[in-house]
Amino acid sequence: MEQAYPARGKLEYLGHGLPESFLDVAMNCGIHLEHACGGSCACTTCHLIIRKGMENLSEMQDNEADRLDTAWELTTSSRLGCQAVIKGDVVAEFPMYTRNYVQEGGGIQLGQPDEKRIRKACGRADAVYIYTYQPRNAGPWWIKHGDDLARFDKLNVISIDTVSATTLADLCDRNMSLQCSIQEDGVYLSSESKEVELKLSVVKGSSSQP
Ligand code: FES
Repeated sequence: MEQAYPARGKLEYLGHGLPESFLDVAMNCGIHLEHACGGSCACTTCHLIIRKGMENLSEMQDNEADRLDTAWELTTSSRLGCQAVIKGDVVAEFPMYTRNYVQEGGGIQLGQPDEKRIRKACGRADAVYIYTYQPRNAGPWWIKHGDDLARFDKLNVISIDTVSATTLADLCDRNMSLQCSIQEDGVYLSSESKEVELKLSVVKGSSSQP
């Protein structure tokens, strides 16, 4: 795309992505750039391939690099439009495909979720699941946020017990291939050499199952 835009620092910030990022500039200039997560680095729909001027972009941060790893058609010149801040002349192309976790389902995010992200997910997905696995941290988190999160009908919060979580970690391997079996008496994950039964308890159930 080729677009001239107002001098740096003169753009009105519309709350999408980092200020003066591709997404912010696109929104200001009326260019449609997908941004399913609203510019919070939680999808890859704003994936762009930089053809010229990579040096005129802000340095890539770890959260952008981690998210980009999940993009279709990833190249060594890829950036997320909502995170790459423009500091000079740049030429970028839209990739042929982008992956929209929010609309396609199956989006997985790691780490402690903040309310803004949960609200967005509940606004777009049919069902949202949070799996907690460290009672030491998850307990205080739920005590602090449970009342606020109770209003999200599509939200399910499931706790994985400590023993299951520890044995689950033993299944992790660089090229792991796991089988999941859901039976009446439980959920089982197995690799070629081990099987783990997951003990799950519902902390908060959804009141609007799809
Ligand atoms: S808009 Fe979702 S990661 Fe950029």
